Amino acid sequence: MISLDTSLLTFDLKALCDEKADRLTEIKGDLIMRADKPNDWLGWLKLHTHQQTFTKIQAFADQKIASGKFQNLVVVGIGGSALGPQALIQALHHPLWNELSREERKGGLKVYFIDNVDPDWTESILMHLKPQETLYCVITKSGGTAETISAFLWILDRLKKELGAGWKDHLIGVTDPEKGTLRAFVEREKIESFPVPANVGGRFSVFSSVGMLPLALTGIKIEKFRSSLEKTFDRYLDTRNDDYFKNIPFALAVALVQAESKLGRRINPLMPYSSHLARIADWYVQLVAESLGKSSQIGPTPIKAVGATDQHSQLQLFAEGPADKIIFFLKVGAFRQDFPLPAERVEGFTDLAGESMQRLIHAEGEGTAKALAKRGVPSLIIELQKIDEENLAELLFAFELMTAVAGSLYGVDAFNQPGVELSKKYTYALLGKPGFEGYLSELR
Ligand code: PA5
Repeated sequence: MISLDTSLLTFDLKALCDEKADRLTEIKGDLIMRADKPNDWLGWLKLHTHQQTFTKIQAFADQKIASGKFQNLVVVGIGGSALGPQALIQALHHPLWNELSREERKGGLKVYFIDNVDPDWTESILMHLKPQETLYCVITKSGGTAETISAFLWILDRLKKELGAGWKDHLIGVTDPEKGTLRAFVEREKIESFPVPANVGGRFSVFSSVGMLPLALTGIKIEKFRSSLEKTFDRYLDTRNDDYFKNIPFALAVALVQAESKLGRRINPLMPYSSHLARIADWYVQLVAESLGKSSQIGPTPIKAVGATDQHSQLQLFAEGPADKIIFFLKVGAFRQDFPLPAERVEGFTDLAGESMQRLIHAEGEGTAKALAKRGVPSLIIELQKIDEENLAELLFAFELMTAVAGSLYGVDAFNQPGVELSKKYTYALLGKPGFEGYLSELR
């Protein structure tokens, strides 16, 4: 379970939640009602009900691992089609996962992400891996994202050249169940594929095949996510409960909107005190930025910070820079292992003798939050008991729900991203693609 400490806020969050209770109840009812609509974007609320998909993914991954044929998994995707699995894999696996032996990985595949169109980077990764022992998982909800498709085409060409007729066993598609060019391709070529439900958008898709398939292929048992999501749904979306101060995603949304719109605290660093959770901050930045960045007048700007590392970087700005921040700290209650520092007193370094790294990082997090509070910088501390599937499912779902609720409070559509379209059109115009000529005049 995750918990929330609101004691370092500079405003009364409980009073605000109570004051807005009717509106929040209305929002909750609206979100639940939309979750079952096939043509809306709230399907992510109920991914735990897709039991069959979880079972099918697990069986597929177990079979691929047991076959012993594959060493590597290359995940190709961008934005919401990459950040979720990247974040969860970094959270759950050994930091040097790809350097562990097959036995140490218990057969789970090494994993590499291609999430950009940098030719050097892409070529270096792809040429390093033997296609014979590699599975390539192409993830694109829309089925046609240029960045993803460019790497896919490279992979397809190499697979056909090196593996001949066997190329199809090395490719998996994760895409819309019916629409898009990748869907048409996998159906035509009879390639293994997994659906992203039509009513689930990219940045809300981490618990669909988008996140669950790569995780399962690295050996993680994904049912733990599903069962945690089921409990989490009941915990946060129980229609009989209107105590929103105790409902973490709703309380977070109220705090975010209040700080941004009433206190001018528009910048929202998410600062996990854990290297394993650093990528969660990247995932969070995309979730909040692409969902709530819809108006030149309102909306938070999320940023990534990592404790304790950024105490030696951005903290100075947070402490004495513009008074425009509300910080969300992420605390890990119990690390998987601790690192006791030797009791032996080394001359000149006696302060830390006999301490432990866990005690130190906890003290650093608390000390930083309290020092910022002393300067009037508000913060919230979200605590995960530990880093495991159950806590991560609850945490990420809570952030998704927070974002949806904040979108409703702001009156913006949290589920579209019209602002990114023009850049795509200009890109195609610059490449000289037919149909985009009209945009060239705007570029000169
Ligand atoms: O959140 C979103 O919808 C976007 O960030 C998408 O995930 C991103 O653009 C990639 O899209 P697709 O999965 O269609 O390739």
